Amino acid sequence: MSESVIDLQERDGIARLTVNRPKALNALNDAVLAALDEVLDSLEANAGLRAVLLTGAGDKAFIAGADITRMREQTPREAQEFARRALATIKRLEHLPVPVVALVNGFCLGGGCELALACDWAVASDNAVFGQPEVQLGIIPGFGGTQRLPRRVGPAMALELITTGRKIDANEALRIGLVNRVMPQAELDAYAEELADQLAASAPQAVGTAKRALYDGMDQDMDSALALETSLFALCFAGDEQAEGMAAFVEKRRARF
Ligand code: CAA
Repeated sequence: MSESVIDLQERDGIARLTVNRPKALNALNDAVLAALDEVLDSLEANAGLRAVLLTGAGDKAFIAGADITRMREQTPREAQEFARRALATIKRLEHLPVPVVALVNGFCLGGGCELALACDWAVASDNAVFGQPEVQLGIIPGFGGTQRLPRRVGPAMALELITTGRKIDANEALRIGLVNRVMPQAELDAYAEELADQLAASAPQAVGTAKRALYDGMDQDMDSALALETSLFALCFAGDEQAEGMAAFVEKRRARF
């Protein structure tokens, strides 16, 4: 595995992925996508996985976008292949049955913002900068931004950000719902540890099922989505977690999932 471009650390079912190209502000190139695919192979096969944290190496950038030096000479066909490949990898990350949290520790631009949008939620350090600056390069977002950004922040704000390329700071990202929390950069790692423990304490199958209900439901009409929720809710009663969770409540003890 290309460990140099994606660092994977695991502790108690929590996988921490660090994109490791700090000299290029962790820009996404073929090597990063290939390494991410390899890491996803192992995460998808890991039955004990409880959560994934994704961050960027260094204190300046989460990910400053797709690699512009890589895209500069691309033909339309090559650009299509690059985007298709990245989208497939990003979708695998999004479909993991555990919470995936972006720890945004600096520039989060273009493809970096699109990768953060495929995470279930995001925590930003106070120096983080977000944006979809593609129109300033003569292109549009190609790693899902035109679809996931409006679903996260609403179409009006998404259109503003995508058509102007305006960069926003962490507090504005919090205000528009692009991130869930903002904190001083020095506290981000400690928070990540605390968060990992919290995530690991929830019933894992219930968490995966909730993710499925939410995302699959958002792509359906309301009645179908509610019917999906009902089916998945009922399915929870077929597993061990519901018995343990409710027994623990009645016995006034902490549930062991
Ligand atoms: N691709 C390739 N290299 C990049 C990069 C990127 N997206 N972003 C930064 N780098 C490189 C710089 O070229 C520079 O390399 P050198 O030291 O070899 O010159 C290094 O990272 C450090 O960057 P800067 O010197 O530019 O740092 P800065 O602090 O002055 O500026 C920045 C930081 C504002 C983030 C600036 O680097 C920047 O604007 N980067 C590009 C951001 C961008 O446009 N992202 C969108 C890319 S397009 C995309 O992602 C399409 C898509 O949807 C798939």
